[in-house]
Amino acid sequence: MSTTLSKPPTDEVILSARGVRKRFGELEVLCGIDLEVRAGEVLCVIGPSGSGKSTLLRCFNHLEKIDAGRIEVNGELVGYEPYGSAGRLRERRPRDIRHQRERIGMVFQRFHLFPHRTALQNVMEGPTVVKRRPRGEVESRARELLDRVGLADRADHYPAQLSGGQQQRVAIARALAMDPTLMLFDEPTSALDPELVGEVLGVMRDLARSGMTMVVVTHEMGFAREVADRVVFMDRGAVVEAGSPADVFTAPRHDRTRAFLSTVL
Ligand SMILES: Nc1ncnc2c1ncn2[C@@H]1O[C@H](COP(=O)(O)OP(=O)(O)OP(=O)(O)O)[C@@H](O)[C@H]1O
Ligand SMILES: [Mg+2]
Repeated sequence: MSTTLSKPPTDEVILSARGVRKRFGELEVLCGIDLEVRAGEVLCVIGPSGSGKSTLLRCFNHLEKIDAGRIEVNGELVGYEPYGSAGRLRERRPRDIRHQRERIGMVFQRFHLFPHRTALQNVMEGPTVVKRRPRGEVESRARELLDRVGLADRADHYPAQLSGGQQQRVAIARALAMDPTLMLFDEPTSALDPELVGEVLGVMRDLARSGMTMVVVTHEMGFAREVADRVVFMDRGAVVEAGSPADVFTAPRHDRTRAFLSTVL
């Protein structure tokens, strides 16, 4: 496991969303989302099923196109570029979008590891294939990352030989191998047996303490309360309430937040 470092205070905005709208056919899934995440901050997103949490995360690395608004990561417009006059935007080229995604780590509910590659090979894949870094360097860094997620002794195991919690920790190490400036987590523990949840949350807690900027969609209210700098409650495609964990969990201002919390706490 990694050592615990204190977070450097900073005002640098890593992620900014302004007026983000997204619809699937008739259904407006994101109805104008405004959010900002600063360097080293952990933002937890909570809310009922279908409220648009996954869609929002997917917009952050342009796995979904947006219908209106702007998303910037590290000061760069994600997925789009200015075109012509009058502030028009067009979609970036696929290669540019891929480059943008390299700096945004994403961990999903399901682990999506390559089944025919070992844990070590899974972690090495991105830096070797995408970044074309020298193999020796990539391997020693991959071993370091496996050590950091507590899996140094599982480097040569295949995914099928690992528990769900171990696979998810490999997935986190694999995302970190690309040196992301931002990590997105979409319910990373909700597919796990209860006894395996803690080990994954532990790795995420260490990562947060090391100063990683993180957006975490989660149903783990204990984790959100303890680790989040800010909590956002979404409902029906809108941010209903945002604040410190103490504010949102202890003194929610909106009925919808109270109603949701009463079902999960
Ligand atoms: N590709 C798609 N096509 C059509 N509708 C979609 C698509 N993806 C999501 N939706 C709809 O958009 C809404 C928001 O879905 P989303 O997955 O973002 O919710 P969520 O908050 O992540 O929910 P959960 O907590 O269940 O994961 C839902 O009504 C969903 O059915
Ligand atoms: Mg979801």
